[in-house]
Amino acid sequence: MFYSRKSQVIDHHLTYLHSQKVFTGQYWDEFALTCSLIPDHAKVLMLGLALGGGIRPLFSSTKKIELTCVDYDKESVQKCRDLYQKCFPDIQFKTITADAKEFLKNDDQKYDAIWFDIYADAAYSTLAFDPEFMNLIQRRLTVKGALLVNAYGLPNHFSPLTANNIQQNFASFLKSQFGFAAAIPFRRNMTLVVSSASPTQYPVKANESLNAMDQFTFDFIQKKVSQQIQLDELAGANKIDPHQMQFAAIDTHMRQCWSNLRERLNSSGFDLKENREFISLIQNPERCEKVILHLISKNDLTVCFLPILASGESHLQELNIDWLFDWTEKNRNYLSESLKTHFQLIWLTQLWALVIHPHGRYKKFYFRFLTLMQNL
Ligand SMILES: C[S@@+](CC[C@H](N)C(=O)[O-])C[C@H]1O[C@@H](n2cnc3c(N)ncnc32)[C@H](O)[C@@H]1O
Repeated sequence: MFYSRKSQVIDHHLTYLHSQKVFTGQYWDEFALTCSLIPDHAKVLMLGLALGGGIRPLFSSTKKIELTCVDYDKESVQKCRDLYQKCFPDIQFKTITADAKEFLKNDDQKYDAIWFDIYADAAYSTLAFDPEFMNLIQRRLTVKGALLVNAYGLPNHFSPLTANNIQQNFASFLKSQFGFAAAIPFRRNMTLVVSSASPTQYPVKANESLNAMDQFTFDFIQKKVSQQIQLDELAGANKIDPHQMQFAAIDTHMRQCWSNLRERLNSSGFDLKENREFISLIQNPERCEKVILHLISKNDLTVCFLPILASGESHLQELNIDWLFDWTEKNRNYLSESLKTHFQLIWLTQLWALVIHPHGRYKKFYFRFLTLMQNL
C-alpha cells in the first residue's frame, strides 16, 4: 500500500517523495500527527495539496480515514492524482480543484481534522489572515475537531512565538479566532494545533504495512503530540505587514538571528566573523563542542541551532557531521537533562530526519540512534 516499485516516477531530489520510505525527514512527515488527534473512521480535509507529500503520513496509522484534498492549481492536482494512481493505487482520497475559500463556502461536510497548508509561491497566503475564511473552517469542524496548520518561519530555538513576526502573528490570530492553540516545532516549519478547546488525544497505532523504520518514525512523531507547546501567553496579534508574509523577509529575519547569536558568542571569546562560518563550525568537533558546552552553561536553548543547521544545510551540500551523531550518543544523558523536551522535540528530531533522509548519508547511524531513542 505505502511502497512502490515504480521508483523512477517519484525518487526525485526536489520532491523527496520516496518509493520505499513514507517518512523522509521533510515537514510533511508531520501530517502523521493527525492520527493522534482523530477518532477511527474520521473525515479529514487537506487544504493545499501540491504533490500530496502528506498523504501517506496521514494514512500511516490503522485508522480508516475519508480524505478530501483541495488545491486551486489544476496541474498539481493532476500530477498528484497520476502519481498516486501509478504508485500507490490502494491509497484512496478525493481531490477537488478549487479555491479553498470558494470550496468551503459551498461545502456542507463536517471534518474531524482540517489541515491548512496553503501557500503562495514564495509567501504566506492572504487566506492565513482572513477571519471570514477561518470562520468557514470553524463551521466545518466537528465539536472536537482540530485545525492543523503548517506555519513556516524561524526555527523554534529563535523563539518565533515571542517575537513580533509572522509566525507569532499567525498563531495569535488563530488563537483569537478559535480559543486554543499549541505548537509542535519541526525545522523552519511548525505545526500549530488549533481548536475551540484543548484537543482530545486518541489512541493510535502504526499501520502494520509500514516497514520497521517508518513504524519507528511514526511512533516518534506521535510522542510529540503530548509534548506540544501550549500557547497561553501569546503577545496578541499585530496588524499584518504584507512585507512580513514574504519568505525573503523571513529569511532576512533569520540571518539577523544568526548575527545576534554570533555577537553573543563573540563577546564570550569565540571568533565568528561572518554567518557562513557557522557551517565550518558544525564541521569542527573540538570548536563546536566548546560552543555547545558554553551555550548550555548559559541555559541558552539557541544551542539547538546546531542540529537544525546540520539538517537544513544538508539539503544544499554534503557536510562532515558524523561527529555530531557520535557526540550526541555519548552525551545523551547530559543533553536530555539540560535541554529537557527540546532534546527530543528539536535535537533528536533533526538528527533522525538526517538518518531517514533519502540521500542515505547518515543511515549508518540507524540502529545506534534507534536504540538511543527507544531508551529515552
Ligand atoms: C505547500 S503546498 C501544499 C503541500 C501539501 N499539503 C503536501 O502534503 O505536499 C501549498 C499549496 O497551496 C496551494 N494554494 C495556494 N493558494 C490556494 C488557494 N487559494 N486555494 C487552494 N489552494 C491554494 C498551492 O497551489 C500549493 O499547491
